[in-house]
Amino acid sequence: MQQITLTQPDDWHLHVRTGDMLKTVINHTARQFSRAIIMPNLQPPVTNVAQALNYQQEIQQATSRQYNFTPLMVLYLTNATTVEDVQQASLSPAIHAFKLYPAGATTNSDQGVTDLNAIYPIFAAMEELNVPLLVHGEVTDPEIDIFDRERVFIEQKLSVIHQHFPDLRIVLEHVTTSDAVQFVQQAPDNIAATITPQHLLYNRNAILVGGIKPHYYCLPILKRETHREALVKAATSGNPKFFLGTDSAPHLTHLKENSCGCAGCYSAYAAIELYAEAFDKAGALDKLEGFASFYGADFYQLPRNTQQITLEKTDWQVPEHYPVTEKEQLTPLKAGEILHWKLQA
Ligand code: DOR
Ligand code: ZN
Repeated sequence: MQQITLTQPDDWHLHVRTGDMLKTVINHTARQFSRAIIMPNLQPPVTNVAQALNYQQEIQQATSRQYNFTPLMVLYLTNATTVEDVQQASLSPAIHAFKLYPAGATTNSDQGVTDLNAIYPIFAAMEELNVPLLVHGEVTDPEIDIFDRERVFIEQKLSVIHQHFPDLRIVLEHVTTSDAVQFVQQAPDNIAATITPQHLLYNRNAILVGGIKPHYYCLPILKRETHREALVKAATSGNPKFFLGTDSAPHLTHLKENSCGCAGCYSAYAAIELYAEAFDKAGALDKLEGFASFYGADFYQLPRNTQQITLEKTDWQVPEHYPVTEKEQLTPLKAGEILHWKLQA
């Protein structure tokens, strides 16, 4: 049997929600990962240190004691974020970044920022205090085609922010295009990107061919094959600017299988296994450890993990659903399909 052993990985972009959903998903992450960057797009969003500490406590209480898992907290930028909020965040060891959602770009982004120029003093404080900016990189202009929204954001918004704040550390989250890959490759070391398993494994045909497949719908939306290929190349290149961030984003099955289905793929149940599939297909399993376990920690200026995990090459079937409440469930990415890598208990 083939197996690989890796330094324990971290997930640098994760949604875990609250309540019953949190209880359903958090141990799926904690059994694999040592740490995860927790997205703050709750309703209402996590906008200050006190709220983040409460949320961190709720996550820790939902996590099984058998795991040694640390949730790394992030604050949600709004039009009302103050320089004092940034100062307080920079002093709190629990807080690791701010997240920029352009208002209207995605799930629970209505409290997001409407005018980037208006928050320049906030970016200046983050640059000064060495607090990373995590970016959902899509424009929201209704005129712009959904498949072009990431490229246009980079051209019109991100490159301008980077020019004005050259020392600001920025993670362009869940990159989906060759344009994003190129931007990040050409930028200095303070600009990095996360890549999700679904964007390595699928192109937009997965959503649209043979019927509408809502469980492949996420934002930024899956793109054409040439973009997927560019992402696989970046992830498996050994370039430390690209690292693991699942963007696992659980929604109840009935809210995905809906006339207005929610955006988000649930991948946390088998995140490292899904990345192993993608790296194995590319013949690059030797590059998985850097991507999954080293480069993100280095970018966030945190120590690398010292524990190890082992993956075995063995087939197993993904469940059709995970129960969330007595009546409600969650459908994972690749529900009912066979995965070829399995994390050893
Ligand atoms: O598909 C997505 N789901 N993209 C996001 O940016 C947000 C996320 C969510 O919170 O459901
Ligand atoms: Zn996300």
